[in-house]
Amino acid sequence: MFNFNLHAPTKVLFGKDQIAGIAAEIPAEARVLITYGGGSIKRNGVLDAVRKALGDRVVFEFGGIEPNPDYATLMNAANLGLEKQVDFLLAVGGGSVADGTKFIAAAMRFKGDAWEILAKRSVAASLESAVPIGVVLTLPATGSEMNAGAVISRRETGDKLDFHSAHVFPRFAVLDPVTTFTLPERQTINGVVDAFVHTTEQYLTYPVNAKVQDRMAEGILLTLIEDGPKVLAHPEDYDARANVMWAATMALNGFIGAGVPQDWATHMVGHELTAMHGLDHAQTLAIVLPSMLAARREQKREKLLQYAERVWNIREGSEAERIDAAIEATRAFFERMGASTRLSGYGIDASRIEDIVSKLEEHGMTALGEHGDITLDISRKVLLAAA
Ligand code: NZQ
Ligand code: ZN
Repeated sequence: MFNFNLHAPTKVLFGKDQIAGIAAEIPAEARVLITYGGGSIKRNGVLDAVRKALGDRVVFEFGGIEPNPDYATLMNAANLGLEKQVDFLLAVGGGSVADGTKFIAAAMRFKGDAWEILAKRSVAASLESAVPIGVVLTLPATGSEMNAGAVISRRETGDKLDFHSAHVFPRFAVLDPVTTFTLPERQTINGVVDAFVHTTEQYLTYPVNAKVQDRMAEGILLTLIEDGPKVLAHPEDYDARANVMWAATMALNGFIGAGVPQDWATHMVGHELTAMHGLDHAQTLAIVLPSMLAARREQKREKLLQYAERVWNIREGSEAERIDAAIEATRAFFERMGASTRLSGYGIDASRIEDIVSKLEEHGMTALGEHGDITLDISRKVLLAAA
């Protein structure tokens, strides 16, 4: 196992009616800006519950944060926050709202051009502060509610970039599975796929004898395989929603990734697909992961065999056959969940692959993966195999 420093300071309030608990987490004198997306929280009663819990605090609202939150929108929110002298940000929604709010929090305290927080790793790393954030999560998927990362899009330039800063860890995250009952089917699917791929990015690499992390990762994958189809079939199954919600948080809150190699190549290639073609984040992962695993079967051999046996119970056949079967089982799971695993499934023609490869190059994504050896040529082959 590698050395690691693990810092997971977010307080989790999990379960039914936990939104009321935010009253004890936000200072009574705080000036709060509630940030949200396109309005689902108004329709399903979550906003009402939040406003009730905030009592007579001074509260402002900023709505309209889009899926794959846009830089321009977030700068408007940051300006509103400064104008209203807001000192607490409360993100109510999915990963896009949580991520967007992290960026707003950093931008409000940043002197200079806030785009640099995304464009330059060194700028994000040297951020000195951010406005405190809380999250009321309504879409289990990204893990953003308990981590220090955010992914921001800039439609104007076709970019989708991430930043990380310990200053943007949410102070608390409310995870009430009941809030997820109203998710559209497509978002339920996305959440399960995204959490699954977060787990494989930290698990399907090479062995470092990290038994706890491996078995936690396998537990998350098995839970998603078992309860993913249940939440699709029965959107109001509280127990299944609860298990999927906690699985998604645990997939990207630092625990399974501590002390182990990490890949993230599927995510980096996927981000370009979203930026260029507007696909949902998880749809891009469903396309890229099976082909990526096939292309990396030598480098990932030992972990793929472990995955085959412990997650899919594949014990028969040669090593090559077991690896093939595990990759096929992964693809079949995504398809069974309703996520197409081919570019053609989203109307994207193979002739567009070269543009995606160019964007990877522009963004410096030329040495990806846990070994840093996934070149542009390999990414091209992965996309061609996913056509
Ligand atoms: O905008 P509203 O009206 O709220 O509707 C949203 C949105 O249209 C809807 N929704 C959310 N909760 C709902 C609901 N509808 C009904 N009932 C509810 N309870 O779902 C739609 C999608 O929401 P979004 O927040 O975009 O989805 P998700 O949570 O999948 O977030 C995706 C974003 O997170 C980034 C992605 O790149 C993408 O930009 N990621 C962030 C990560 C992180 N911070 O660590 C890691 C991930 O790998 C990912 O890259
Ligand atoms: Zn993801």
